Amino acid sequence: MQTISTIAELRSQIRAARMAGKRIGFVPTMGNLHEGHISLVTEAHKHADLVVASIFVNPLQFGENEDLDNYPKTLENDQAMLSANDCHLLFAPTVKEMYPDGKGIETLVEVPALSNTHCGASRPGHFRGVSTVVTKLFGIVQPDVAVFGQKDFQQLAVIRRMTEDLSLGVKIVGVPTARNEFGLALSSRNGYLSDEQLHTAINLSKTLNWAKDEIISGNRNYSGIQDSANQRLQDAGFKPDYFTVCEQKDLTPASDKDNKIVILAAAYMGPARLIDNLAFKIN
Ligand code: PAJ
Repeated sequence: MQTISTIAELRSQIRAARMAGKRIGFVPTMGNLHEGHISLVTEAHKHADLVVASIFVNPLQFGENEDLDNYPKTLENDQAMLSANDCHLLFAPTVKEMYPDGKGIETLVEVPALSNTHCGASRPGHFRGVSTVVTKLFGIVQPDVAVFGQKDFQQLAVIRRMTEDLSLGVKIVGVPTARNEFGLALSSRNGYLSDEQLHTAINLSKTLNWAKDEIISGNRNYSGIQDSANQRLQDAGFKPDYFTVCEQKDLTPASDKDNKIVILAAAYMGPARLIDNLAFKIN
């Protein structure tokens, strides 16, 4: 695997691969890779001949009091993991390469209806930062297929919508959430937790499963379910941010007529803001 840090060099490598008739698969990340990220690389191989990953901790998507400066950087380990999983190219640009004035760019991409609720309400500007950098990365890599995790369900919805609205010509593939043996969704932010907090954190997915079981067994009192879920999270030691039963496409609150449901949740455990979700159908 080759690691490339400039846009020009990456473009020339990808141009050569395309001339050779190869399909390009792309996995954007912020690094500190775990098995969840690797499952995206594995999926990319099913759709493409040349797999490109990127590692870029994108300042545009972090709020002022967020963990941009502390975001874990483990490049050597990430390179080893990618290489062991047959990733062909790693694009790891500096902030200056992506944003030459050091701060950001003038042009911003925004999908307001999907970006201002849930995580977007708690992290203003976050999804604008994500959609802008992903558009830029798509422009650089020009992939046929790009792979994202369902762990970030709202992010995936934003990216699908923006790719469709702007006719970016990239097929977006979503991959199920990778979890540890106790059901905790793998996340770089789990690294901020003590062993005890990690153990307690499994209550986020447990609470999601409890709510899903309620719904599957016929309970349609979604606001009641949400209230109980928030209480359960609080009792377990979380500071809940939101817990919302939504309709899958627009991520608006579900009504009892909707049958494609996703429960979206975010909660603070000590220093870490953890997110998780469960998507399912009801009859
Ligand atoms: P990052 O948090 O590094 O995640 C990169 C990709 O890995 C995303 O598509 C995310 O949904 C996926 N992912 C993370 N944890 C996962 C898990 N447990 N199971 C499956 N997939 C998982 O998301 C970002 O970076 C950034 O916002 C980015 C899209 C790169 C734009 O900067």
